[in-house]
Amino acid sequence: MKVSVVGSGYVGSVTAACLAELGHQVICIDIDEERINKINSGKSPIWEKGLDELIQKHAGNNLKATSDYESAVLDSDISFICVGTPSDDYGNINLSIVKAASKSLGHAIGNKDGYHVVVVKSTVVPETTENFVTPILEESSGKQAGRDFGVSMNPEFLREGKAVYDFMNPDRIVIGALDKHSGDFVSQLYDKVECQNEIVRTNSRTAEMIKYTNNSFLATKISFSNEIGNICKKLGIDTYEVMKVVGMDFRISPYFLNSGAGFGGSCFPKDVRALTGKSKQIGYEPILLDAVIRVNENQPHIMVNLLEEKIGNLENKTIAVLGLAFKNGTDDIRESRSIPAIADLIYKGAEIKAYDPQANGNMKKIFNNITYCDRAEDALHNADACLVMTDWDEFKELDSEFGMMRNKIVIDGRRVVPVRNLEQEIDYVGICW
Ligand code: UDX
Repeated sequence: MKVSVVGSGYVGSVTAACLAELGHQVICIDIDEERINKINSGKSPIWEKGLDELIQKHAGNNLKATSDYESAVLDSDISFICVGTPSDDYGNINLSIVKAASKSLGHAIGNKDGYHVVVVKSTVVPETTENFVTPILEESSGKQAGRDFGVSMNPEFLREGKAVYDFMNPDRIVIGALDKHSGDFVSQLYDKVECQNEIVRTNSRTAEMIKYTNNSFLATKISFSNEIGNICKKLGIDTYEVMKVVGMDFRISPYFLNSGAGFGGSCFPKDVRALTGKSKQIGYEPILLDAVIRVNENQPHIMVNLLEEKIGNLENKTIAVLGLAFKNGTDDIRESRSIPAIADLIYKGAEIKAYDPQANGNMKKIFNNITYCDRAEDALHNADACLVMTDWDEFKELDSEFGMMRNKIVIDGRRVVPVRNLEQEIDYVGICW
């Protein structure tokens, strides 16, 4: 099939490259010339495992990029909207980029004779495809949705670092269509994908809600585990021992029960906030979802409080911060729990030496007044204490490096410090254990 994909950010690049791998003719549309050039020269515009290889394989064959909506829409039967949906100052979803993309697509559809389907893949709050995107498409095309062109919503469930795998091996595919014909069209795109469950066909607002519910539930599991962990800590109980057994209940499952510094990334915090925002807007006070965010925001401060309990006033103390990325395997620092922890430490007058295997460069754009180290060892050297914020595998191997912290405090926010070997030497404190 012939597909165009608007937006060559994270979701757009992965969608485009994977659809090309499935044998479709794919055109990426972006306003950023640098991204267009990268894709056309066979390089990925973002760092994501396996993506460079796919783009290199298909660029110049069945994958190309352009800034021209008109030609891309003429040359394709389906257009995916994969643009960003950032939060506004109040945490609510900002749809200005979706609006611009919908307008441009609508103009191009207005100038096209054949049938065309628009698919929203960007994460948007319930009712957006129906009450926001569709009217814009109708107005700018002068055509009628459901008759002259189709509209669907097809959420993504892609984990950073595993996005290509997740796209190719989904546990479910959800298609929320305005009309059956466009839903059938989108469904055909996935014919060659082996999905663990059957393709779910529904309406667009349900598809939108499934995406938010999915992420909000995972975030709730994490905040729940963090709250249980905070209680366990006060009782001298190891929460990991508790959650391991609780996760054996098949109704709960063992995943996303790891308590620690909390969740970050481009999805969970933003999506939970957007759903609470939508909920309040329609007159329902989301008590539980608000608490999920509150627990999450508190976790980094709990770590700094534990540190103060141990070493007192932080003024002029040197604190090593190991891990800046929001999780292992990425240079992404969006909503990373290390950000509020560092801000807190700076506010309290501490000197910070930070180290991350991938994310030092990105964090420099937020904090340019702290010291960045090229090795964990350098950050730990002469530090008064250490906070571990990210679950990098290499931190599990830092035996001799943590040995330099003899009689000093190490506060572990991810349960990665190789404590068995070090117990006698460092003053080890787990955030929830
Ligand atoms: C997430 C979803 O998993 C994916 O389906 C979605 O569509 C995009 O958002 P991602 O943001 O890449 O993916 O990260 P994920 O691996 O889910 O982890 C999110 C955050 O939760 C990380 O900060 C991680 O450290 C934290 N986490 C995860 C915990 O604190 N405890 C856990 O048990 C699991």
